[in-house]
Amino acid sequence: MNLRRAVFPVAGYGTRFLPASKAIPKELLPIVDKPAVQYVVEEAVAAGVETAIFVTAEGKSAIEDHFDRNLRLEAFLAERGKLDLLETVRKVGAMVQVVAVRQKEALGLGHAVLQAAPVLGDEPFAVLLGDDIIVGQPPAIGRLAELARKTGAPVIAVMEVPQAEIRHYGCVAGDLVEPGVWRVRDLVEKPEPAKAPSNLAIIGRYVLTHDVLRTLAATPPDRAGEIQLTEGLRRSLAAGPLYACTFPGRRFDAGNKADFLRATVEIALQHPELGAGFRKVLEELFGQPPRT
Ligand code: UTP
Repeated sequence: MNLRRAVFPVAGYGTRFLPASKAIPKELLPIVDKPAVQYVVEEAVAAGVETAIFVTAEGKSAIEDHFDRNLRLEAFLAERGKLDLLETVRKVGAMVQVVAVRQKEALGLGHAVLQAAPVLGDEPFAVLLGDDIIVGQPPAIGRLAELARKTGAPVIAVMEVPQAEIRHYGCVAGDLVEPGVWRVRDLVEKPEPAKAPSNLAIIGRYVLTHDVLRTLAATPPDRAGEIQLTEGLRRSLAAGPLYACTFPGRRFDAGNKADFLRATVEIALQHPELGAGFRKVLEELFGQPPRT
């Protein structure tokens, strides 16, 4: 099984980032020198993905433009002899084949994924949420793809969180089948910590199959009128196995302002050109070397 296509749902309003996300999609807010969504697309590409399917909305077409060629800009940089920048810009434009589909109303993550169905075909595909930035090698989605290949089943990413925080996540009840891998028995959306079946939180990485898509299409909306991906996956348990696994890399919740700032600081400290200078800035601010 080759994981060639990945869906990036980017049609949300990003209300937690207002007013920054009023006219600019939150997915394009920069973390150091790249828009947040580029980290996520790079992770998918590193795992072999060739086609990025962005589920976008009105006012968000700058996301697909970012991964397109910009011939005018390239000509300008070439004329001025700015060859390093030319190379950087060309690389982003050549990274991936771009497909954009529209979610005409923000009716939930499950609904967003369903909008990609006409361009997905029968092969398994990845879903990556831009809110979850995972840095490190090997790519996190590659770990899920490997397990999906081995089991022939869909796979979701999970991370252990402090019990009190599980209320913010989808939660997995499962049987451990090998270190870091669970066969899922049930999924619960945002449980009360005392009632949560585990502290395994669902993180925004999925390898899904055509069968899951079919179940999702038959999943009714919740009370808020949204089709939830977690609910679709829960229903798919009746039809076949679903696995959950942990993943390599450091994860940041870039949908949240405080964690976005943390991502900026940690990624800046690791940056080959900016890291050393930025470390000095932090030392000046805090009067001592920052921990890495
Ligand atoms: P979130 O609920 O975290 O994103 O959905 P949001 O709605 O944009 O942000 P807040 O909560 O208002 O700040 C997770 C991902 O799913 C996408 C979002 O764009 C985000 O990347 N999404 C969500 C859709 O594409 N469509 C939807 O209907 C809902």
